[in-house]
Amino acid sequence: MNNFKFHARTDVRFGRDQIMNLPEIIKPYGKNVLLVYGGGSIKKNGIYNILMDLLRGFHIVELSGIEPNPKITSVREGVSLCKEHDIDLVLAVGGGSCIDAAKVIAGGALYDGDPWDLVVDSSKIDKALPIVTVLTLAATGSEMNQFAVISNMETREKLGTGSPNFVPMASILDPIYLITLPNMQTAAGTADIMSHVFEQYFQKDDGAYLTDCLCESILKTCIKYCKVALENPKDYEARANLMWSSTMALNGLASAGKGGGWTCHPIEHELSAFYDITHGVGLAILTPSWMRYILKEETLTRFCNYARNVWGFEGEDSMELANKGIDATENFFKECGIPMTLREAGIEEKSLHDMAVATTDHNDMSGCYVSLTTEDIENILKNCF
Ligand code: NZQ
Ligand code: ZN
Repeated sequence: MNNFKFHARTDVRFGRDQIMNLPEIIKPYGKNVLLVYGGGSIKKNGIYNILMDLLRGFHIVELSGIEPNPKITSVREGVSLCKEHDIDLVLAVGGGSCIDAAKVIAGGALYDGDPWDLVVDSSKIDKALPIVTVLTLAATGSEMNQFAVISNMETREKLGTGSPNFVPMASILDPIYLITLPNMQTAAGTADIMSHVFEQYFQKDDGAYLTDCLCESILKTCIKYCKVALENPKDYEARANLMWSSTMALNGLASAGKGGGWTCHPIEHELSAFYDITHGVGLAILTPSWMRYILKEETLTRFCNYARNVWGFEGEDSMELANKGIDATENFFKECGIPMTLREAGIEEKSLHDMAVATTDHNDMSGCYVSLTTEDIENILKNCF
């Protein structure tokens, strides 16, 4: 097991009506709050009214309209509001996009330059305003991690950044907020959670047995409860388990003692940068193709463990067993209603090469579980088409 650092600074309030604690949670940080939210789901499902009632004693400045795959233009708007209104705290209410935008806004508010600098070069993030979140979509883990992913449509880039200063001070996780999600967002969010686990689980064997078991449990939880939530969006148990899976998959625990670079995420970020597609949909399409591409003698044991421990398959022939696990993964995403080819997701064949080049331009893919060249990535993309 490798050495690791695990520092949990987020005060997590999980369960029904936890939002009632919000005034007490944010009070120590000050009165001036920038409320960051998306295209209106929180107004439709009533969270906005609850918030406004609860936060009557605070000075609330609003930044609405944060887009899925949040754009740097919105972040710049938020930074200006922070500077203009002397904001003390950034409160994000929504999915990963709102939370990620809030993080870079919080950093940009205390930075003398264009916030895009903080996306391109995370070493420039040396401070940030405190961030608190109310999560409404189980997917990214942004509610308890240091990462943010921001898109710049002018340069056609979607880049990840991060800093310990971006870890939320507190996050409210009420599973009830997930019941208004469209089924496609529930499915795409689950695919994202599972992909976070795959990126950490499929690494060279390093004796981190406990962490591997945790990864397998998160995957089993997603597989068990996503379909329940799709069939009955109001099922509390399903929503609660998916919500906690989102947080657990990317708060550091699922990689403790493990290491290595990620594969599908860097490729997906180019799909979104070029075509603005839903992150989880891109990941669901890429994952089975990537798995098939890297399945060989050296990776066989891990794929067999995956097939056995996550899907419960048995068999004498290791290659057959490994392939059963991969097929089951693909079928699962299909059954959840996710379009499973790049063509169906609206991506054009003519861009596959450019997206592969952009992936290796933006990322060092040599430290992945199986290192990939630009040509490998183009092959994977072609197989997904
Ligand atoms: O904008 P509103 O109206 O709120 O609607 C949103 C949006 O259209 C809707 N939604 C959210 N909660 C809802 C709801 N609709 C009804 N009821 C609710 N309760 O869902 C749509 C998608 O929201 P978004 O925030 O974009 O989704 P998600 O949470 O999947 O975030 C995706 C973004 O996070 C990045 C992705 O790349 C993408 O930009 N990621 C962030 C990571 C991180 N910070 O650690 C890691 C991830 O790997 C990922 O890259
Ligand atoms: Zn992701």
